Amino acid sequence: MAANILTIPTTTLNNGVQMPAFGLGTFNIKGGEGVDVIKDAIDIGYRHFDTAFLYNNESELGEAINDKIANKVIKREDVFVVTKLWNTYHEPERVREGCDKSLTNLGLDYIDLYLMHFPVSFEYHGDDIPWPKSGPNNEPNAINDIDYLDTWKEMEKLVDSGIVKSIGVSNFNSEQVDRLCKEGRIKPVVNQVECSPIINQKRLNAFCTERDVLIIGYSPLGKKLISRPEIEEIAKKYDKTAAQIILRYLHELGVTPIPKTTHKKRLKENIDIFHFQLAQEDKEALDAMNTGERTVRLPNSIHAKHYPFNLEF
Ligand SMILES: NC(=O)c1ccc[n+]([C@@H]2O[C@H](COP(=O)([O-])OP(=O)(O)OC[C@H]3O[C@@H](n4cnc5c(N)ncnc54)[C@H](OP(=O)(O)O)[C@@H]3O)[C@@H](O)[C@H]2O)c1
Repeated sequence: MAANILTIPTTTLNNGVQMPAFGLGTFNIKGGEGVDVIKDAIDIGYRHFDTAFLYNNESELGEAINDKIANKVIKREDVFVVTKLWNTYHEPERVREGCDKSLTNLGLDYIDLYLMHFPVSFEYHGDDIPWPKSGPNNEPNAINDIDYLDTWKEMEKLVDSGIVKSIGVSNFNSEQVDRLCKEGRIKPVVNQVECSPIINQKRLNAFCTERDVLIIGYSPLGKKLISRPEIEEIAKKYDKTAAQIILRYLHELGVTPIPKTTHKKRLKENIDIFHFQLAQEDKEALDAMNTGERTVRLPNSIHAKHYPFNLEF
C-alpha cells in the first residue's frame, strides 16, 4: 500500500459495523475513465464508495476494486461498498433479484451496505426501464405504491443470507424511518439524504440520531454552492477551499459526506478535511444558509402514497 495514503475516520453503525466516515459519490462516473477515477480514489485513501443499480456503473466500480485487490493494494474487507435497490424492484419477490443483479454487476460476493433508494415503488417493466410509463398516454411514472415495509422485510433476508452486511434507506422522511425502526426486525443503519449548507437536515439528523440511525449526506456540494461568497469568505480564513469548508461542516454535523468528482486534484482536496475545525461563528454562518430547498425530488412522483418529501422533515 502507498506509504502516504490518507487514513480517514470510521463511524460505528448500530449493528457494530465500521463505516468510513467519508465516501466517493459515483453518479455519472462511467466507462474506462470512471474505472481510472475509482482506482485513483483507492490510491488516495478512499475506502467508501457509493453507487446504485440506477447509475449503471456498478460494473466500473467492481472492476476498479477487483483490480486493486488483484494487485494487492487492498483486500476486499478494506473497502465499504454501498449500492441501492431501485424503485422497480420493490415487489417482495423481486428484491433478491435486484440485489443479485447488483452483485453480478459489481463482480463481488457481498455488498457492505444495501439501501432502498426511495420509499416510492414503480412497476417493473424490465431491467433497462428504470422510469416506467403508465396509462394510455404513457405518463411517467408507473407508480404501484408497494409498502416499503414489505420491501424492507425482504432486504432483512439478504442480511440473513450473508450477501449483504448491512441494510439502510435513502430519501426516507422521519415518519418512514420511525416506522421501520418500530416495525422492522432489523433497524436501518443509515438514511442517505441530500445534505449541504442549503439543506442541512438538522431536524432529521437529530431524529435519526435518537434512533441510532446515521445520516449519509449526498449532493453535499450542491448546485453553484461552491461559488457562494459566504463560503468563499470562510474558506479564505482557513486557507481551505470552499468544497473543504462544506465537507468539514457536514462532518462536524455528524454526517458522512459522499462528494463526487472525476478530477484527481479534487479527489485529494475533498477528502482532506480531517485536520482542521470550524469555529462556532463560522458554523453559525453556514447554518444561516439553510433554506431546506432540495435539488433531488424524484420527478413525477409527488402523488405516490409513500412520497417522502411532503413532510417538513
Ligand atoms: N440517494 C440518492 O438519491 C442520491 C441522489 C443524488 C446523489 N447521490 C450520491 O451522492 C453523490 C454525490 O452527489 P452529487 O454527485 O449529486 O453532487 P456533489 O458531490 O455534491 O457535487 C458534484 C459536483 O461538484 C463538482 N465538484 C466536486 N468536487 C469539487 C471541488 N473540490 N471543487 C469544485 N467542484 C467540485 C463535481 O465536478 P467534477 O466531477 O467535474 O469535479 C460535480 O459537478 C452522487 O455521486 C451519488 O453517489 C445519491
